[in-house]
Amino acid sequence: MTYEIRGIVKKARQVEALGYSITWENIGDPIQKHNHVPDWMKTIIADLLKEDKTYGYADSKGVLETRQFLAELNNKQNGAQITAEDILFFNGLGDAIAKLYQFLIPTARIIGPSPAYSTHSSAEAAHANTAPITYKLDPDNQWLPDMEDLYLKVKYNPAIVGILLINPDNPTGMVYPKEVLEGFVKIAEEFNLLLIVDEIYQNITYNGITSVPLSEVIGDRPAISLKGISKEFPWPGARCGWMEFYNRESSQEFSKFCQTLENAKMIEVCATILPQLAIPKIMTHPEYHSCRQKANAAIGKRSDWMAEILGDIPGIKFNPTQGAFYNTIVFDEYLLTPTQSLSIEDPKLQALLDTWLVGSEMPLDKRFVYYLLAAEQICVVPISSFCSDLRGFRVTLLEEKEEVFKDTFRRLGKAIGSYLKSSEVK
Ligand SMILES: Cc1ncc(COP(=O)(O)O)c(C=O)c1O
Repeated sequence: MTYEIRGIVKKARQVEALGYSITWENIGDPIQKHNHVPDWMKTIIADLLKEDKTYGYADSKGVLETRQFLAELNNKQNGAQITAEDILFFNGLGDAIAKLYQFLIPTARIIGPSPAYSTHSSAEAAHANTAPITYKLDPDNQWLPDMEDLYLKVKYNPAIVGILLINPDNPTGMVYPKEVLEGFVKIAEEFNLLLIVDEIYQNITYNGITSVPLSEVIGDRPAISLKGISKEFPWPGARCGWMEFYNRESSQEFSKFCQTLENAKMIEVCATILPQLAIPKIMTHPEYHSCRQKANAAIGKRSDWMAEILGDIPGIKFNPTQGAFYNTIVFDEYLLTPTQSLSIEDPKLQALLDTWLVGSEMPLDKRFVYYLLAAEQICVVPISSFCSDLRGFRVTLLEEKEEVFKDTFRRLGKAIGSYLKSSEVK
């Protein structure tokens, strides 16, 4: 298992050590990109720290009042209804994802998207002890899922017990339209499958697009929604995420699975309490929604700028980001070669790059990513590391400073052009 979002950092640090500053485009951490945590949010957290209860354990499933609050929030959407008992807190959604796959019965498989946020695909693969099973997201169709591919894979693989979707999606920035979500529910119905939806970016959409929660379309089928505060508040360092179980009693197996996950949390005692105590206070603060809307509008604007800068570059497929804060850019098929390059003036940088390139056979998008890091000091993540056969890379839309954002993507666009042209010259 590898996690290239962080793996690439080691390489970038070597470039830094030569005296260069890096433009970090590898990780979805709004705080690293200077997103400001509003003062009222800090005050809520500071006030909580003055109370003794903040220093104790929580209930194993999580703070009851917070679970009640979140259940009500879900129920207002008028879809599948839940109670506080259907919510289970974890130390970050990453922890929830790990547990989810770990406690599935060993032969059960979950089919997930490709490309995929690798925490899911790696955890599923580790559970099954073999390669992940995936359905395609199509860069030629705005990254929408290839439903026929999904249908056929589910039909011919009886080991598949569930389907994962990430909505809005990481790494593509696609938001599933309602009809497509309904298509997933239909397949789940036909083959009696569990639906798992990672909705950590549910409230991060813009430019007129909104994300339909799974609870609205799930009907009476078993499903798990995964949510968290790392991106939305944003407070990734809180390590706080949760599962919502929909229609828990709709099948015996599902009910047993939910119970297993709860038992596992009991063994661990509970998840971190401070962020759980803060959730209702932050989400009901009068400025909460306007803050999120403002942040979303800013990402939407960056999505437009990115489309203006990268939209017409020959040799790549570009789809504007609709939700979350990533974009995945893929190279047209067969365009990458093992001889392409970018010019690097500093011999020390060239020597460093050479050490990365020698000997190892690497996917050709990783090779481009290494060149980009050495030549432009822009740190992105190859898409081959997101459980995908496509060749490209993921960037973020988090940079707050307009000029830095535009300059980064202009340089990136130029680098793509030069890299692809370099093989024509040779
Ligand atoms: C789709 C998705 N799910 C889960 C996570 C993990 O979030 P957390 O910080 O709560 O562990 C991330 C983080 O990038 C993500 O993109």
